[in-house]
Amino acid sequence: MNHFNWRKGVLHAEGVPLPAIAEAVGTPTYVYSAATLTRHFRVVSEAFGDTPHLICYSVKANSNLAILRLFAGLGGGFDIVSGGELARVKAAGGAAEKTVFAGVGKTQEEMEAALAAGILLFNVESAEELDALDAVGRRLGRRAPFALRVNPDVDARTHKYISTGLKTSKFGVPFEEAVALYARAKKLKGLRAAGLDCHIGSQLTQGSPMRAALTKVAGLYTELKAKGHPLEYLDVGGGLGITYTDETPPSPEEYARIVLEAAKGSGARLVLEPGRALVGNAGVLLTRVLYRKKTPAKHFVVVDAGMNDLIRPALYEAHHGLQPLVKRRGKAVEVDVVGPVCESTDVLARARPLVLPQAGELYAFMSAGAYGMSMASNYNSRPRPAEVMVDGEAWRVVRERERVEDLWRGERA
Ligand code: LLP
Repeated sequence: MNHFNWRKGVLHAEGVPLPAIAEAVGTPTYVYSAATLTRHFRVVSEAFGDTPHLICYSVKANSNLAILRLFAGLGGGFDIVSGGELARVKAAGGAAEKTVFAGVGKTQEEMEAALAAGILLFNVESAEELDALDAVGRRLGRRAPFALRVNPDVDARTHKYISTGLKTSKFGVPFEEAVALYARAKKLKGLRAAGLDCHIGSQLTQGSPMRAALTKVAGLYTELKAKGHPLEYLDVGGGLGITYTDETPPSPEEYARIVLEAAKGSGARLVLEPGRALVGNAGVLLTRVLYRKKTPAKHFVVVDAGMNDLIRPALYEAHHGLQPLVKRRGKAVEVDVVGPVCESTDVLARARPLVLPQAGELYAFMSAGAYGMSMASNYNSRPRPAEVMVDGEAWRVVRERERVEDLWRGERA
């Protein structure tokens, strides 16, 4: 469910007509719906009922401070993967003690900042990283709370670029090595075993890989507890998929049932790291048509958003719905919607049946709230888009459009 709706033929975000935002702020612009963000957070949280759980929103999906502040206000924690993300969480007023830190390449400086801030959990991804964290803990005179991220070797059945739980993946420690690593960590003075973690991939649309992975990991949790490790948290990662076209991912309730069933009897406090499920369908990318171009092979529609603004189609062959902001009648033709970037992969929508767009018309790429702006770049020296938050009838710019001068900030000629 989201709050992007048609009213009298005009696409709205909650109570605000999207063309009004495009006219005022320009394009390309990301627009988010506060009501949708809030709803998604609550639906996921409520699905877990009274079971102790903490929703640690995965900051990488969309790291705008306004979004982080909104989730912090709802009681959420955060899943971070860098010192930069930690700084964002702090700047947005997020709680360090509800923050978990994942990633295979945390530097000691990043670990130090996170330990000093008092984060909940370091999700450690290798034996060498465990030693580094121990060194940081001893240096600061503290025991760093850690969970090992184990790789359960389960095929998440998602796009291979966003699958992380197979043996061949760089993520996590091999499942079979976990028991020995916890035993080794017990002897280290800079560490405190606080949990166990896994994450098998993103945009998961089937329940069975989740069930298989979590059952395995919850079994390991119980085994580790029996061996005397004082674990408290079972971090089940993120990954719950959303509907871009016709995918039918588990509902939050089905997802919760799978997790709760797997974790039953473990006594663990659950940590969840949803990213896409919270923000994906809460955002759109507004764009304006620049030109049409008909070649003997195809109809092209050139828009002012490019792969630097929304890289998912180019990188993962991802599909984002495309809607005109003002409904049109007429015969649909098949078009490729392309951006201005000088790359053949700068195709944002391929072979779409659309009433032939006219220059100047406004469109929205749908479901662009996750991994849209957070993956945007300045490729081709294109300033990154503005971001807008809608809340009811009100809206505000939550990130200014980059200016051309921003492009060479820090450079020396
Ligand atoms: N936890 C960990 C350890 C992760 O690596 C990720 C995502 C998440 C949580 C959140 O996953 P989500 O709930 O959003 O699926 N750029 C790609 C997705 C990359 C996901 C990376 N890790 C895309 O645009 O599809």
